[in-house]
Amino acid sequence: MAPLIARTIADLRAAVADLRQDGARVGLVPTMGALHAGHVTLTQVARRAGAGKLVVSIFVNPTQFAPHEDFAKYPRTFEADLAKLAEAGADVVYAPAPETMYPDGFATTILPGGPALAGLEDRFRPEHFAGVATVVAKLFTQCAPDLAVFGEKDFQQLAVIRRMTRDLDLPVEIVGAPTVREGDGLALSSRNVYLSASERARAPALQAALQDCAARLQAGGRADAVLAQGRAAIETAGFALDYLELRDADGLGAPGPAGRWRLLVAARIGATRLIDNIDVPRP
Ligand code: PAF
Repeated sequence: MAPLIARTIADLRAAVADLRQDGARVGLVPTMGALHAGHVTLTQVARRAGAGKLVVSIFVNPTQFAPHEDFAKYPRTFEADLAKLAEAGADVVYAPAPETMYPDGFATTILPGGPALAGLEDRFRPEHFAGVATVVAKLFTQCAPDLAVFGEKDFQQLAVIRRMTRDLDLPVEIVGAPTVREGDGLALSSRNVYLSASERARAPALQAALQDCAARLQAGGRADAVLAQGRAAIETAGFALDYLELRDADGLGAPGPAGRWRLLVAARIGATRLIDNIDVPRP
């Protein structure tokens, strides 16, 4: 069945009240549209986490893009998105206008700290997580979901949202969903459409370098040597590297003697910036 489309906060709240009538838990999957199989997985993860009803938001959030970034050309594919969400069984699609999210006079921003200042994406996109945190907090208060699902592909974003939700006592369970990949390992991303054929052919080198580093680290390799080798491999494959870092998976600080490890990368190929990350089993 086609999902109900809500464009205003009042319509969204009325629709969510309806969804709750039979006591269902409501899940929210926030997206910027241009949906791919990774987003469909987010809806499945929401169901598995106990969402009897599902709201998917589609909003290309201007405040998380720097002026030189790709806000204007970010792919907008609303009709195709709706078809995918109908198939995925979404109950409500919330697609607010920019003026609904940021009316005249809007003047309040959430400034996340902790994992938002880990020296990863924030080094290259200093305003980004304030925009993400603010819009996600707004989506939470507008929709009031029981749980919300975010992809691990944006691993620092997930950590920032977990931290913010705890710090602001937002009554929403945050659920992370594993990254979905193409057959050759490239992480699905709405930005993959920017890749030329030759860039697309080279792009899986990023994931291959992550896998190679993780295997060496698990085998007891020293982090600085393994990372130096990984950085060189990524550059040899034709990328301009922003970072390749091994971090503690929870707070994204330096990897400690306990806790899980995560390897995170961002690199540019041509005009496209790709990010990826994987779990690193400890030696
Ligand atoms: O991951 C995204 O698509 C966006 O950052 C989000 C969480 C929908 C906020 O705009």
